[in-house]
Amino acid sequence: MSNIFEIKDKELFFDGVQLSTVAKKFGTPCYIYSKNLIEKNFNGYREHLSSENHFICYAVKANPNVAILQILAKIGSGFDVTSQGELNRVLYAGGDPKKIIFSGVGKSESDIKKGLDAKIKCFNVESKYELLLINRIAKTNDIKASISIRVNPNVDANTHPYIATGLKNDKFGVDMREAHGIFKLASELSNIEIMGIACHIGSQIYDIAPFRESLQILMHFVDKLKLDNIHLSHIDIGGGLGTLKEDTNQTNIKEFSKTIMNDCSGRTEKIIIEPGRSIVGNAGVLLMKTEYVKTNGEKNFAIVDAGMNDYLRPALYQAEMEIKSVSPNSAQAKIYDIVGPVCESGDFLGKDRQLPIETGDLLCLCDAGAYGFTMSSNYNSRCRPTEILIVDESLHVIRERETFEDLIKNEKLIEYIN
Ligand code: LLP
Repeated sequence: MSNIFEIKDKELFFDGVQLSTVAKKFGTPCYIYSKNLIEKNFNGYREHLSSENHFICYAVKANPNVAILQILAKIGSGFDVTSQGELNRVLYAGGDPKKIIFSGVGKSESDIKKGLDAKIKCFNVESKYELLLINRIAKTNDIKASISIRVNPNVDANTHPYIATGLKNDKFGVDMREAHGIFKLASELSNIEIMGIACHIGSQIYDIAPFRESLQILMHFVDKLKLDNIHLSHIDIGGGLGTLKEDTNQTNIKEFSKTIMNDCSGRTEKIIIEPGRSIVGNAGVLLMKTEYVKTNGEKNFAIVDAGMNDYLRPALYQAEMEIKSVSPNSAQAKIYDIVGPVCESGDFLGKDRQLPIETGDLLCLCDAGAYGFTMSSNYNSRCRPTEILIVDESLHVIRERETFEDLIKNEKLIEYIN
């Protein structure tokens, strides 16, 4: 694969497939993913982390479609899940339970039971009370639960505040000052087996320095634990590497992997990473159609058929994704806000984009493979889009477009007695 995007006869192609033909066949809006690029991203990590001493757990929350999980399970990925829903998806898609890590700050009793029943690799525990609960449930079942403790290393990842997770005032992980006591407590509990230590400092991070800083903090801590005869078998540094255009993404994955491996060379603990976005982000696009163009005051608007309910990131994090034209037209390029049909002023997909747009034109929102469909909703009673997977230039529907029946499936009219 040379470049995931190509232009042939002025038509935009994604992973070898002409996008206008996808729109014709499956309608818009629709998410389109590339199997090849997902595999390439995963293999980039695998190739550049050292052979034995690493373990990659794809963060399911980034894109939990079962076909995506199936691809990753098939090539040997582990999985990081944050709910029993995600756990069930991984099992359904053929993932190996022994390669599943259960993260999350608020696991319910039933989440924990499900994880224990499935015999997952370990829970990443985020508080003393969660630890005690896991021990109690494991005791009732007469088994040992494998755990890691997720600590909060207080490292600034320089990212959007909503997706920074490793600062001391964030809700995640255990405060470093309490971590030692919690490890000691874990070592004394009858039904707990301590496997490792974990952290996750945030998402969409492009600088490797904060990852290195948190790794140093964790390694130092692990060495201190040895003095108490607590020996860990892994160090989990979480996910968070940002997504970039295809080749730059590969270079970034390579640099990240080599640097991390170099920083912990000579250590006996396995290094675990939990990447989500950097595996699926650039491997997906959102294809949409322009319903209308109009000018209000000073502003030109292209009103498209995808809205914040389909792709929330610009509204929620002011994310700026590239938007490309799909087919040629005779319009003059102007500065547009690309907005959706939802009744909210925050419903925009891109602001101030210079594009030639006419009513009916298709547009392609890039890097939509992560935190796209998975964060979609039915707001404004909009049916969520279809998802298509490209496998060697052939198209597979991996999620049908929702219908009105889907929307009201769990709702009930009441009976009126007159
Ligand atoms: N591990 C843990 C414990 C996490 O909480 C996350 C993401 C990851 C791994 C994967 O991070 P990634 O490699 O995908 O950055 N909705 C936001 C992102 C929220 C990320 C939450 N945690 C967005 O659209 O930017």
